[in-house]
Amino acid sequence: MDRGEGVWLWDTQGRRYLDGVGALEAMAVGHGRVELVEVAAQQMRKLAFLDVFRYASQPAIELADTLLRIGPSNMARAVFTPGGSEAVEVALKLAFQYHYLRGEPQRRKVICRQGAYHGVTFGAMNCDGRYYSTRTDIYLGEMRFGEVALGPATGPGWGKGARHTAGAEEFRRKVLEIGPQHVAAIIVDPVATASAVAAPPPEDLRKLRALCDEFGILLIADEVIAGFARSGRMFASQRYDVQPDFLTLSKALSSGYIPIGATLVSRKVIDVFNGASAADNVFTHGHTYGGHPVACAVALENIRILEREGLAERAEEIGAYFQRGLESLSHHASFVDARGVGLLRGLELVGGDDKAGRFGSARAACLWMRKRLRDLGLITLTVHPGTVFLLAPPLIIEKSEIDALIDILDRGLDELDRALAG
Ligand SMILES: Cc1ncc(COP(=O)(O)O)c(C=O)c1O
Repeated sequence: MDRGEGVWLWDTQGRRYLDGVGALEAMAVGHGRVELVEVAAQQMRKLAFLDVFRYASQPAIELADTLLRIGPSNMARAVFTPGGSEAVEVALKLAFQYHYLRGEPQRRKVICRQGAYHGVTFGAMNCDGRYYSTRTDIYLGEMRFGEVALGPATGPGWGKGARHTAGAEEFRRKVLEIGPQHVAAIIVDPVATASAVAAPPPEDLRKLRALCDEFGILLIADEVIAGFARSGRMFASQRYDVQPDFLTLSKALSSGYIPIGATLVSRKVIDVFNGASAADNVFTHGHTYGGHPVACAVALENIRILEREGLAERAEEIGAYFQRGLESLSHHASFVDARGVGLLRGLELVGGDDKAGRFGSARAACLWMRKRLRDLGLITLTVHPGTVFLLAPPLIIEKSEIDALIDILDRGLDELDRALAG
């Protein structure tokens, strides 16, 4: 790819594509925002970098304050990281230390949902829902502490996404199977984006919160994708009215203009650290590029744009229009379901391998479809179980551009229907 503007990308041959996944779900404010470029240049001229282990820059302090202002009201600290995996790492390490400080060092298990993706570092890799990191056996060995709650999800309010992932009921079963006294944390993306964009019903996240409270387990809401207005609220946890113990953030924190991540830590966790002895309560963790002044300045400006342009409200409103557009495709034989929240949507196609015709598997058919859509001018990607197309365009997308996106999907589905029948 060569350049971007708004929701559009151009490749080096001059072909134009609609960025249907917002540059790997990061691009909230749209490509080509000169404001962000200028803020980065200004900050580089003023103070490009410093020893972030011992000093803080003004943008880092301001960004921490801003995140605590806009985040769930129970959050008390922000820890900065270079990206999303490292933000998850911070939450996991703090969770282990929290239990250690409370006299429960045996709490070492972390449970994620089927199909989940939380990153690639050693801790985050433990939170893999058995779809994305197929060879964790090679890497983790004795270091494995992750457990997976398997679906299908049960309980009221679930839609068709339930077939591909787990909900609060399944987490409860897993907790009891492991023994609650061994469980340190539950980690979930509130929208279950990587898990087939399953979009759990709001009460499911509340049930998960209650489950954690019942058994002294910490709840990590990983909003690396869902955070920063995409869900129709600044954070999906707020949409579902749940206060997690940690909130992990990256991607749209800077709209992808510069790498940065953050972990928000709740008052409950901080209080335990504050009450412990000085020998034990140090969090021995830092990244040279955690809280990089230029990244923090860009993130601050990005958040100002999100707020000034009301992009959360816009995601809610345009997201409903987008959903209607996706549902208008239901006459296609290969259409299974469209679901999601805000501008975070999943389009499930084909159904099962028995319907995959000459492709042999539904996943192979969807891989073919993804390439066809790209050739038709739409960038998408597929998530677990390989048959759900993730659609997360920049939040500034216009209705006419949604229409263009739906039109490309319509033409692609015509071709897919024919290919499956033939
Ligand atoms: C929910 C979630 N958590 C964590 C990560 C890891 O972030 P990064 O790729 O910045 O390490 C991702 C990346 O896609 C993600 O989607």
